[in-house]
Amino acid sequence: MKKNNKTIANILLQLEDVDISKYDDSFLENALKKRMTESHCNSEMVYYDYLQQSHIEAQEYIRSLSVCYSEFFRNSLTFAVLERIVLPGIIFSKKKNNQHEVRIWSAACAAGQETYSIAMLLNEFANNNEIKFRIFATDQSEEQIEYAQKGVYKFSELSYLSVNRLTNWFTKEGDSYSVKPELKEQIEFSTFDLFNKDLSSPPTSIFGDFDLIFCANLLFYYKPEFQEEILKKIKNYLSKDGLLVTGETEREIVMQHHFKEVYPSSAIFKIPSGSLKWSDG
Ligand SMILES: C[S@@+](CC[C@H](N)C(=O)[O-])C[C@H]1O[C@@H](n2cnc3c(N)ncnc32)[C@H](O)[C@@H]1O
Repeated sequence: MKKNNKTIANILLQLEDVDISKYDDSFLENALKKRMTESHCNSEMVYYDYLQQSHIEAQEYIRSLSVCYSEFFRNSLTFAVLERIVLPGIIFSKKKNNQHEVRIWSAACAAGQETYSIAMLLNEFANNNEIKFRIFATDQSEEQIEYAQKGVYKFSELSYLSVNRLTNWFTKEGDSYSVKPELKEQIEFSTFDLFNKDLSSPPTSIFGDFDLIFCANLLFYYKPEFQEEILKKIKNYLSKDGLLVTGETEREIVMQHHFKEVYPSSAIFKIPSGSLKWSDG
């Protein structure tokens, strides 16, 4: 950890009991620069003093590390591959093997945009009741899970949705749009920290065995050893032919950990059998 980040990490651990040592150095450097500008501190030394004296600033700094930006159908290539190839493939093989449930975990769902996007796609395939979907959506942030459960968005947040999807799955209420109950009911939302040592997957899912795990736009905030910890957890909870979906900018990270991209640039990965880096299960 760089010296300036280490100083801040020590202050926050001592005064706020918050450990920021998992975060990537350059992410922390950017946070420091932003907080220095916002709080009009013209040197790092001045900022350290200020941080030590101000509980409010410490909370602001910690809040600045929680990046919750998301979009519906974020990463259009990934969603196109999911829609045209991956989901039809999963449903075909379930039917062929006389299985009736597709299990999905959206592991950093923010305010629900990713999860509702998946739920819309799945429902568009479900033209009969032969296959059921179980979607688990988790995030470490209670605030984000509350937003997600409410499922109320401003029109500007829905710009990537087709008119069809907007009318099929949302109800206009004043200036906002609410997700229809029939879509919401299919998702089990709960708070869950991917670094939780006691629980490996959302407790409501009981045993994992997911066909798809979404862990998108989160890995790059963490140091390599913590990225590995998350990927290891995910690997253990994917079904035999299960797939991991990440953010486009995280492809390199995932490939370094022996996941194989199923279609070029799709950010959708499988674990190659026989060449796993991790031996424990
Ligand atoms: C930038 S958002 C990405 C949301 C969505 N997956 C997407 O791709 O648009 C990152 C989310 O990861 C969550 N997050 C960060 N660290 C986490 C952890 N250790 N466990 C669970 N969620 C975490 C944050 O609360 C935030 O909602």
